[in-house]
Amino acid sequence: MRILVVGTGAREHALVRALSLDPAVTELHAAPGNPGIGRLATLHAVDQLDGAQVAALATRLGADLVVVGPEAPLVAGVADAVRAAGVPVFGPSGEAARLEGSKAFAKDVMAAAGVPTAEPRLVTRPDEVEAALDAFGAPYVVKEDGLAAGKGVVVTDDRDDAVAHALACLGKEGGAVVVEEYLDGPEVSLFVLSDGTDVVPLVPAQDFKRAGDGDTGPNTGGMGAYSPLPWAPAGLVDEVVETVARPTVAEMARRGTPFAGVLYCGLALTSKGVRVVEFNARFGDPETQVVLARLATPLAGVLLAAATGRLGELAPLEWRDEAAVTVVVASEGYPGSVRSGDAITGVEAAEALPGVHVLHAGTALHQDPGGDDDDATEGAHLVSAGGRVLSVVGVGSDLAAARAAAYGGVGRIALAGSHHRGDIALAASQGS
Ligand code: AMP
Ligand code: GLY
Repeated sequence: MRILVVGTGAREHALVRALSLDPAVTELHAAPGNPGIGRLATLHAVDQLDGAQVAALATRLGADLVVVGPEAPLVAGVADAVRAAGVPVFGPSGEAARLEGSKAFAKDVMAAAGVPTAEPRLVTRPDEVEAALDAFGAPYVVKEDGLAAGKGVVVTDDRDDAVAHALACLGKEGGAVVVEEYLDGPEVSLFVLSDGTDVVPLVPAQDFKRAGDGDTGPNTGGMGAYSPLPWAPAGLVDEVVETVARPTVAEMARRGTPFAGVLYCGLALTSKGVRVVEFNARFGDPETQVVLARLATPLAGVLLAAATGRLGELAPLEWRDEAAVTVVVASEGYPGSVRSGDAITGVEAAEALPGVHVLHAGTALHQDPGGDDDDATEGAHLVSAGGRVLSVVGVGSDLAAARAAAYGGVGRIALAGSHHRGDIALAASQGS
């Protein structure tokens, strides 16, 4: 099978890595990819937001499957363009990706499908902000109604901050905000594959969204993740499939915009039961890094089945009886404005540790004819080129072992000014 993966992050590197381990995969391509992906796949300098370019590349390569990783190309209709060119594609249409692209749309679908979520209020005028906040009280939850890479959400006890964020969002072109009820309780990410009709859940993972240890600091795209969740209630996956995923997929089909791809269910396990915090229309980053590290079934056939309406024919997925932890190494300043171009060393040393692999996100190769250290590739050096730089994955017999592996790997990597959380999977590994 020839496969083209669209995207540039550690999530796409995890997808490409899993596909590279599948004997059915004969050729791997990525557009545009990153230096880590480039070790496993042929890279193509294509604008990932340009459906015509991606479709033309897929046709030229004779791709049997295109996998679209990030939300922006999906919302821009890249999957539609590829599908229209007659190439199977894993990823929803632009219409269906609105489940992620618009918080207001997602709330509308959830209401129609009877899916439990935080009660929302859509605000489009500045003079409505304070009344909406006061309707729920503190802690205040204010969400920008558009794609914001996990950074458009403010959860705060400070009413002035909540008002300021809402007004800033409303100040943007066509700006709207959703103010909603605060959900207490731990968060779980569950990815559910869908071919538009059938659904197949993966295993749950937990993401660490805040920048600092102890869930302090600003929201980020995600600073680490682990799976399995020893503390999660038995039956959680079945409950989410029946009360969240199936009704949502059925409602999307009823609307004539079937959802095929992966429905990322961001959940809060509240004192009143499971509630949807958010939907995304793609795999989560960094949760994918740990979920795929545990998947024993070869990935290509699974994604192809979802892309071609044949999930119902798929044998049950098999999972390794191992735990996985990933720790994100981020540039100085992330999630604010970041420093780029600093040398990264120690990736190979980290991967020499048992159970450790390193996935690239914001990295680039800097040509340096004089260099000959471990991480040089054909006279080029690895440098930082973005906020989240690397995702270091550790796999072990339990969470403590997986954690030790991941942090052992992080300890061997050097990047000036970088930061990472020290408490990924800590509480779960201690049984709390
Ligand atoms: P979102 O972009 O909707 O996923 O929100 C980002 C993060 O903000 C979530 O992962 C939660 O940690 C937090 N969050 C969002 N909505 C709520 C809510 N209603 N109650 C509590 N926390 C929330
Ligand atoms: N890990 C959060 C996300 O992918 O949105």
